[in-house]
Amino acid sequence: MSIVNQEIIDGCGVITINREDALNAINTDVIYAMKKELRLLHKNNRVGSIIITGTGEKAFIAGADIKEMEALNSTEAMEFAKRGQDITRFIEEYSKPVIAAINGFALGGGCEIALACHIRIASTKAMFGQPEVKLGIIPGWGGTQRLPRLVGKGYAIEIITTGALINAQKAHRIGLVNYVVEPNQLMEKAIEIGKQINSAGPVAVKYSLDAIRRGSELSQVDGLHNEAQLFGLTFNTQDKSEGLKAFIEKREPKFTGN
Ligand code: CAA
Repeated sequence: MSIVNQEIIDGCGVITINREDALNAINTDVIYAMKKELRLLHKNNRVGSIIITGTGEKAFIAGADIKEMEALNSTEAMEFAKRGQDITRFIEEYSKPVIAAINGFALGGGCEIALACHIRIASTKAMFGQPEVKLGIIPGWGGTQRLPRLVGKGYAIEIITTGALINAQKAHRIGLVNYVVEPNQLMEKAIEIGKQINSAGPVAVKYSLDAIRRGSELSQVDGLHNEAQLFGLTFNTQDKSEGLKAFIEKREPKFTGN
C-alpha cells in the first residue's frame, strides 16, 4: 500500500497521507511522495483544487517522524528542516488552492503542513499544536513563521512555547481554521469548497493566490502594484472574455484556463 494515496473527486485532487500506524507522521519518503503527487496533479487540467487529509479517524498528521529525527545530528537536522520547509513552501506557492481537511491530530510538522495550505477545515475531533518544545526542539517546518502570521504573535508564542494542544473550537476562534464540521461532513465540506474553486476561472484563481501570497511578503504599495499588473494580465485571457460575456448573456461561464 502506498504511503500517500491520490484520487480525483469532482475535480479536486485528494492526497491522503497513509501511515495510520504512525498516526500519519511524515518521514522523508512521505515528503517525496507528496511532492510527486502534487506535481502530477499540477499538470492535470481537470484538477482545479487540492485536498490534503490523513488516513483514519485519529490523525491528520501527528508531526514529523520522531523515530527518523532521533538519529540525526545537527547538520542532518538542518537538512531535515529544509526538506520540510521545501514541501511547505511548495504547497504555499502551489498555483491551485490547497485545502487541509484536518480529521484529527495536526501536531508539529502536521500543523505546519496545515499552515502552508491555503484553506483549513477541521473536524470537531481535530487537535492542533506545536509540541516540539516538549521534545527539546523547536518547530522546523515553518511554524515559527506561519503561525504568528495567521493567528497573531500572542497566540503563536503561547502555542509554541507551552507546546499545549488546542481543540478545533479554539483553533476556529483564533483564526487557525476556516470551519469546524462534524467528522462525517469533513470531506463533503472540503469538496464543496473545492468545487466552488473549480468552477471559477483557473487563471484568475492562480493570480489571486499569487497576489495574496506575494502581497503578504511585500509592502502594501508593492503588493498593490503586483495586484494591478496581475489584474491587467487577466485581460489577455480567454477566460476573462468568456467570464464577462457569460455575465452579460446571463449564463454560466465555460472557462478553459486559457
Ligand atoms: N513520529 C513518529 N511516530 C509517531 C508520531 C510521530 N510524530 N506520533 C505518533 N507516532 C506513533 C507512535 O510512536 C505509536 O507507534 P507505536 O505503536 O509503534 O509505538 C503510534 O504512532 C500511535 O501513537 P500513540 O500510541 O502515542 O497514540 P496516543 O493516542 O497515545 O497519542 C499523540 C497520540 C498524542 C498524537 C502522540 O502519539 C504524540 O504525542 N505524538 C507525537 C506528537 C509530536 O510531538 N509531534 C511533533 C513532532 S516534532 C516535529 O514535527 C518537528 C517539526 O516541526 C519538523
